[in-house]
Amino acid sequence: MKNIRKVFPGVVALDNVDFSVREGEIHALVGENGAGKSTLMKVLSGVYPVNSYEGEIRIGGEAMSFYNIKDSEKAKVSVIYQELSLLKNMNICENIFLGNEIKKGGLIDWDASFIKAYKVLEEVRLNISPDTLVLNLGMGAQQLVEIAKAIVKECRILVLDEPTSALTETEAETLFNLLREFRGRGMSCIFISHKLNEVFSIADRITVLTDGKTVGTYDAEKLSEDTLISLMVGRELTQRYPTANHTPSNEAALEIKNWTVYDPEIPDKIALNNISFTAKKGEILGFAGLMGAGRTELFLSLLGVWGRKSSGTVHLNGQEITARTPSDMIKAGISYLTEDRKGKGLILIENIIENMALSSLDKRLSHGLIDGDAELSSVEEMTKQLQVKTPSVEQIVQNLSGGNQQKVVFGKWLLTNPKVLILDEPTRGIDVGAKYEIYTIMHRLVEMGITIIMISSELPEILGMSDRVIVVHEGKIAGELPRSEATQENIMTLAAGGKR
Ligand SMILES: Nc1ncnc2c1ncn2[C@@H]1O[C@H](COP(=O)(O)OP(=O)(O)OP(=O)(O)O)[C@@H](O)[C@H]1O
Ligand SMILES: [Mg+2]
Repeated sequence: MKNIRKVFPGVVALDNVDFSVREGEIHALVGENGAGKSTLMKVLSGVYPVNSYEGEIRIGGEAMSFYNIKDSEKAKVSVIYQELSLLKNMNICENIFLGNEIKKGGLIDWDASFIKAYKVLEEVRLNISPDTLVLNLGMGAQQLVEIAKAIVKECRILVLDEPTSALTETEAETLFNLLREFRGRGMSCIFISHKLNEVFSIADRITVLTDGKTVGTYDAEKLSEDTLISLMVGRELTQRYPTANHTPSNEAALEIKNWTVYDPEIPDKIALNNISFTAKKGEILGFAGLMGAGRTELFLSLLGVWGRKSSGTVHLNGQEITARTPSDMIKAGISYLTEDRKGKGLILIENIIENMALSSLDKRLSHGLIDGDAELSSVEEMTKQLQVKTPSVEQIVQNLSGGNQQKVVFGKWLLTNPKVLILDEPTRGIDVGAKYEIYTIMHRLVEMGITIIMISSELPEILGMSDRVIVVHEGKIAGELPRSEATQENIMTLAAGGKR
């Protein structure tokens, strides 16, 4: 790709970008949120047609003009986007061949499709029948189905835009082994990720984008993680986590006692078993555990949106809270930032103002009217504080880059002035520099006496930020570790169901 320039109203997303990938290499594309990574890949795949950008694309030396995705697919390019695109109510086989059906006499040949589907599923090491509905698959399996879909099209260039953000470590490792195998067959792979350890474990070369410009392309072997970070953010980042200046008080803020909840789908299955814990004022309480351990479900059940409660109490500052709907919880001072920004966090077709002000509306009603000026200025202030990259607060959220959408979710909950802020995977998809900003804001909040509960699957983040760590295993609390004993080893042992 040469001299690629792509402009949106008010935004130069790509400013004469050069990007070249060799045959049979894994090439990582990295850069801060809003740097232009996803946009560059949408140019490559024809999502943005040839007349909507400047510059040229060559594949195998031949100039390409893609008017749509079909065109790029014909040139053997396949892109797996940041937000997966499988149709949940269809089965694996239907998804794999969607828009690319095997036909016989004008009709879809399901027998042949199934046989082929079996074969590609085997190739991606997914031992599931092709007639399984996608909604019954975990994120890792869905990712593999997306890859199977690409293989069926016999792609030569496979693009993965943040493929591992919702995968467990084992799932990510499976994916990487697969990519290495494809590389061995001459396939080129473009890999976008904010997880730099992954980038170094898989990439042969790395291209850095900053503000829509190419900084350079480097051999992964010759680059250190620190150098890469400074290339990305334009300065040295000596620390990944800001130094904490707070001491949690001994006063309880949120107290959960004997919380037991049944699974919403399986009548006799206890999903959360007799959970009790206390989060203190001015504390960052980390919740660690393997994916699926029940951490998200625990907090969703406290909000009354998951499971069938069988016993348990919730106290906030010594007072029992009995009402349990999300809006009652917000009124009481408990806010929950969801891990799934697309599903529950944001209304993508609305602008930043609408989204950020959504949950705090009650607080800014003066005499029953929305104080528009106050709303606008608090949203503008928050947007600035969080360094959301956008031409204005009137930008439609859908047009923001993935990481900047996450910052909007964050801002929305901060505006509710919570006493307890529950953050579920708060920095998923966020670049290293912006992560540091978010951590700094978290520290500021606890210094003000707010309690933060942070669910995270990234151990370094748990270790770097928590005053205390609770480890959840199979719907039970497996153990609690003060900061001094919170080591990677101790947490992993408890998370895997072992004893310390
Ligand atoms: N459809 C659109 N309309 C307007 N602006 C857009 C649109 N798509 C992207 N942008 C803007 O273009 C810039 C590049 O966005 P892009 O999504 O490519 O970033 P990214 O590098 O993928 O970031 P992230 O790591 O957060 O996913 C951002 O400033 C973004 O707000
Ligand atoms: Mg992106």
